[in-house]
Amino acid sequence: MKKIQLKNTHKKYFLFQRNEYLSSQQIKIRKLLGRYLFTKIFINFFNSLSDINDNLNKNFKKEFNDLIDHLPRTTSNILDIGSGLGVIDIYLNEHYNQKPNFTLIDKNFIEKKVYYGFNSSGQAYNNFKITKDFLLHNGLNSDQLSIFDADSNLLFDVKFDLVVSLLSMGYHYPLDQYLSVFKNNTHKNTVFIIDIAEEYNDKNQIFNLFDSAKILYKSSLPRHNYIRICCIGFKK
Ligand SMILES: C[S@@+](CC[C@H](N)C(=O)[O-])C[C@H]1O[C@@H](n2cnc3c(N)ncnc32)[C@H](O)[C@@H]1O
Repeated sequence: MKKIQLKNTHKKYFLFQRNEYLSSQQIKIRKLLGRYLFTKIFINFFNSLSDINDNLNKNFKKEFNDLIDHLPRTTSNILDIGSGLGVIDIYLNEHYNQKPNFTLIDKNFIEKKVYYGFNSSGQAYNNFKITKDFLLHNGLNSDQLSIFDADSNLLFDVKFDLVVSLLSMGYHYPLDQYLSVFKNNTHKNTVFIIDIAEEYNDKNQIFNLFDSAKILYKSSLPRHNYIRICCIGFKK
């Protein structure tokens, strides 16, 4: 696996999406000056790109290795909901010899103040041009990639073999918004890898939506309290 490279233009978005990579100075400044100024200005400073790249490569490799045994053996179509920059998609692309198509869904703007709680529609912190540039820079081909706005009419003409949503659906907002996509665009062997904030969801209710479900991982960090689950076959 080649090292993933985040460029300076990608950095701010990555830090919004994975705030555990913020430097300690940035966290202090956010507490001191509030989220508006932090979101507008200070997110850009006090964090070296090479440190972020080193940590990203180390941590995501582990994150991906923990998923490998649960992935479908082959896959043609992958859906990433709340993809952010789509780091996990680079690993998936390397993993499959027969290169899959990636459909990404996200929001194409940054909120004035970025919060990380749970609410009915989610919080936006992405930019599709930056996401595309990041993914093409790290090995995806443009004909493998489609990016959709979460607030648009989401009609697809494929069945996805794998649906991933890391720290997004179930973590920032409920699954409801995507149930019709699951109904129309998945099959009985579709694998779902989803992060669920237990505080805001009834996990048994979510498990009941699928033919099978298991917990892969339980985070213990107070600010990132979630379970990563693997489910197969959305019940229609
Ligand atoms: C914490 S980030 C996680 C990004 C990426 N999945 C990762 O693991 O690094 C959450 C992402 O969900 C996106 N998001 C927020 N609300 C959304 C919604 N309703 N539908 C799809 N994406 C949403 C945000 O813009 C952001 O990119």
